[in-house]
Amino acid sequence: MEWRPDELAYAGPEHLDPAYVAGYDRKAGYEAGLGDVDADLDELAAHGLDRTSTLVDLGAGTGRLALAAARRFGHVVAVDVSPAMQRHLRERAAEEDLAGLECVRAGFLSYEHAGPPADAVCTRNALHQLPDFWKVMALERISGLLRPGGVLRLRDLVFDFAPGDAEEVIGRWLDHGASDPALGYTREDFAEHLRTEFSTFRWLFEPMLTAAGFEIVRAEFRGAVYGAYTCLKR
Ligand SMILES: C[S@@+](CC[C@H](N)C(=O)[O-])C[C@H]1O[C@@H](n2cnc3c(N)ncnc32)[C@H](O)[C@@H]1O
Repeated sequence: MEWRPDELAYAGPEHLDPAYVAGYDRKAGYEAGLGDVDADLDELAAHGLDRTSTLVDLGAGTGRLALAAARRFGHVVAVDVSPAMQRHLRERAAEEDLAGLECVRAGFLSYEHAGPPADAVCTRNALHQLPDFWKVMALERISGLLRPGGVLRLRDLVFDFAPGDAEEVIGRWLDHGASDPALGYTREDFAEHLRTEFSTFRWLFEPMLTAAGFEIVRAEFRGAVYGAYTCLKR
C-alpha cells in the first residue's frame, strides 16, 4: 500500500536503540515488580484463554508479557516493529524452551496473521505511536485477525479529561515523573511523549474501538492518563 507510513519512523527512536532496549525493563519498572503483566494474563484467562488458545501481542517490546503468556497459553505471537526489541526478545526466549512462542518483526499496519483467526490480541503502551487515522486502521486490522468474540486487551496512555482540564491534569502527571531516568519515566520523558507522540482523549478513543468492531466490556483509568481496556470483537 503506497500510502501506508513507514512504521519505523513512528516507532520512537529510543525503541530502535539497543542501549535503550537493554535498559528498558528497568526503566519500565519490570525489575521492580511493576508492569501488570499477570493482571493482563488473568484478564485474558477470565475471557477463556487457555493452553489451546492463540494470543498475538502487538508492540511486544522486550517480551515481558509475551514470555509469561507463552508459559500459560497455547500459541503466542510476539510482534514488534523494532529490530532491536525483536533481537532482545529472541535472545531472552532462547533461554527457555517455549515451543508455543513465535517472534515476528512487523508493525500494527504490516503484521500478516497466518493460520486460524486469533483468540486474543494484547497491546500495551504501543498504539499511541500512531496518529489517530492510523490507530483506527490498526484497530481495524486487529479486529480482522480475531475470531468473532475474540478479546482485545489494550493498555495505553489515553487522556480521560476534558480539554479545559489539560493543564491541571498534565501538570499533575508531569509532577509524578521519576527522578532517575534509568528507573522510570521522568518529567522530560512525559513532556517528550506529549510533544512527539499521539496519545488521544478517551472520548475520541472509545468511538475508534467501536468503529473498528469492538464492544468495550471493561475500561479502567489511573491518574486520568493510563487506560486499560478489555474489548470483545462483535
Ligand atoms: C513502550 S514500548 C511497550 C513494550 C511492551 N508492550 C511493554 O508493555 O513493555 C512500545 C513498543 O512498541 C513498539 N512499536 C512502536 N511502533 C510500533 C508499530 N507501529 N508496530 C508495532 N510495534 C511498534 C516499539 O518498538 C516498542 O517496543
